[in-house]
Amino acid sequence: MSAVIERLAELAQLGRHDAGIDRALATPQERRARERFATWARARGYALTQDDVGNLFARRNGVRDGARSILVGSHLDTVPTGGAYDGAYGVVAALCALEALDERNAATEHPVEAVAWAGEEGSRFPLGCLGSSVFTGAYDGASALALSDALGTTLGQALAASDGGLLDGVSKRDETRVAAYLELHVEQGPILEREGVSLGIVTAIAGQRRYRVAVEGTSGHAGTVPMARRGDALCAAAEMILAAERAALVAGESVATVGSLTVEPNATNVIPRRVTFSVDIRSPDDARIDAVETALRESAGDANARRRVTVAIERLEARAPTPMDPKLRAALGRAVAAIGERAIDVPSGAGHDAICLARIAPTAMLFVPSIGGRSHVAEEETSPHDLEIGVTALAASIVEVDKFVI
Ligand code: GLV
Ligand code: MN
Ligand code: MN
Repeated sequence: MSAVIERLAELAQLGRHDAGIDRALATPQERRARERFATWARARGYALTQDDVGNLFARRNGVRDGARSILVGSHLDTVPTGGAYDGAYGVVAALCALEALDERNAATEHPVEAVAWAGEEGSRFPLGCLGSSVFTGAYDGASALALSDALGTTLGQALAASDGGLLDGVSKRDETRVAAYLELHVEQGPILEREGVSLGIVTAIAGQRRYRVAVEGTSGHAGTVPMARRGDALCAAAEMILAAERAALVAGESVATVGSLTVEPNATNVIPRRVTFSVDIRSPDDARIDAVETALRESAGDANARRRVTVAIERLEARAPTPMDPKLRAALGRAVAAIGERAIDVPSGAGHDAICLARIAPTAMLFVPSIGGRSHVAEEETSPHDLEIGVTALAASIVEVDKFVI
């Protein structure tokens, strides 16, 4: 078995349970994944660094003095009941690509660093692409450490704990200059499989906004309060959720998802007093995201006016559509041709740390197919053949990009 397959199988055991893999940032399972990464890197003599929010880097030196690093990576955290490939593949593949360069004695001008970005999914702390946002200056580090999870634990507290925190004996990273960023990821959609091709070169990553909506109503006895006098927070939330769905359908080329919802007090015979839910809106076109957001806000205004509830919408995150760098995309095309493979251009509907890195450095992404287009589920899968082609293409891409980036 090749190293990429073996290591992915090993990581897939960390946080695994009957319904999938749970490996949220700064939990014991996620820390163990960072430890595995560190062990593999140390075995090859790559110098490890980590920053205050848990981003972890393994460096293969380049030959030119003072050259900035080419960063290559993805994330080790998962969504709840997630799969074995989203994120983990890009991290493991980055290390395997560095090792492939070693095996060929291929010197690069730039240092090349494999990176495990902290908390890309945003499934524990309320910020997606957390580590890469802080690294690139899009989000303040102190504010990130102050973010709380659902139980009130801050990221700072979680990273200070021995069971989920920063790794011992790893130097602190201060350097944030980057020559270029590459990320290899599973497609998480159906295009590559449908086209029968093993590689995709990403054109652009869809824009994305995340919101937290809180609806405050009035509790009461389910048997005695007449329907016309109720302030039922859940009925109001239901209208807003359907309004967001309708708006995304009407706007076209956009998607809206409510994936998390809590009801209080959550009892059969008590009218819901308070409901909070998440909204995730995406599109390659920011104007369409605006349209869905406007519909959500109008529906909140309507609920405020008609339903004896008050609705508060908090925008937690807004990321514009992000085109990939044309010169890097061309370099990836040359690399794919050099290894005798074929790639097609594909858009990314999923978010990636590449969105943040594109703010500070030329950035490009490669995709390999997802079987059945499935992801963010335990059944997520990519064939061993495609996983290996991805690593070969990534190593060739590093060599190609090293030739011209500054
Ligand atoms: C991450 O996978 C996202 O697209 O939300
Ligand atoms: Mn991912
Ligand atoms: Mn994901």
